[in-house]
Amino acid sequence: MTMLTGAASPAPAGFKGQMAVTAQILQATEKDTMTLKQIQVAARTALLVAALGAMVHGSAFAQSQDATIQAIEKYREMLQDGNPAELTVAKGEDLWKKKRGPKNANLEACDIGMGPGVLKGAYAQLPRYFADTDAVMDFETRLVHCMVTLQGFTREALIKKPFSGSGQSATDLEALSAYVVEESRGAVIEVPQRHAKEIASFQRGEKMFYFRGGPYDFSCATCHAVDGQRIRLQELPNLTKEGPAKRAFATWPAYRVSQGALRTMQWRLNDCFRQQRFPELKYSSQASIDLITFLGVNAKGGSMDSPAIKR
Ligand code: HEC
Repeated sequence: MTMLTGAASPAPAGFKGQMAVTAQILQATEKDTMTLKQIQVAARTALLVAALGAMVHGSAFAQSQDATIQAIEKYREMLQDGNPAELTVAKGEDLWKKKRGPKNANLEACDIGMGPGVLKGAYAQLPRYFADTDAVMDFETRLVHCMVTLQGFTREALIKKPFSGSGQSATDLEALSAYVVEESRGAVIEVPQRHAKEIASFQRGEKMFYFRGGPYDFSCATCHAVDGQRIRLQELPNLTKEGPAKRAFATWPAYRVSQGALRTMQWRLNDCFRQQRFPELKYSSQASIDLITFLGVNAKGGSMDSPAIKR
């Protein structure tokens, strides 16, 4: 096991996370939009977050790293029982179907690659080339495009704050992502490489994955092309291997228990740029689309399992 130092994010604060989830329950209860089932899911999450805090803190002093890994594995198993992302999916479905924006339209005419309004399996084939924009777009970029063209929102306003803060309720983009990806659960990942622009996007993404830079001279590959590497308690998946590459693409967006929030693929890459000490990755930028294309093509044949639930 290799350990990297100096580039890790702080261990999740169980208490803070628990407070965040509690705040979410309160907010949602106020709005009176939660069903009993949803409240049960949220309450269970609060307990799990507390358990995570205890395990991580307790095991940080444990002599054996294996004990820590076992504790985290156990925690992961506990998480499979109920995913608070269900709440975000419900919010997203509502937003998708509701008439909103200056044009007072819903998103049911949005074409995310398989025709207007077709959602089943569509996320598993993104990013892809769209003739109407003459560009390769990942899901989140396409979503913004639909909200601009169909509903009349401005792109600037939509991407100003795409990610919610820890424990805040999901942004519209996060909720809509959760809903649409849920519609692809079980679908086989098949990110197309037919159009010249799709191939070019993959090639730029691949180049970026191995490009070293920044104060630590890190590339994505520094953290993600080695087996068994960890930063503190976090295992770093070797994204050049078939299994982890499939899992990584299949399980984002995901609900992050430590942050009490639903996180999208754009968020995942934004956070890795931060870990890499690179300048901030702009939401829905060409670089982000190309990296997602690279990850998606390498995950070919995997089966979508998102929103997943993660530490
Ligand atoms: C300094 C180390 C570091 C660098 C550099 C880095 N990452 Fe990460 N990456 C992480 C950590 C830490 C996680 C989270 C692991 C966890 O939570 O278990 C992660 C998770 C991921 C995941 C999700 C994997 C999964 O199965 O959930 C993807 C995808 C990813 N990184 C892609 C990238 C890409 C693309 C780059 C380059 C732009 C990159 N990373 C650069 C540290 C890094």
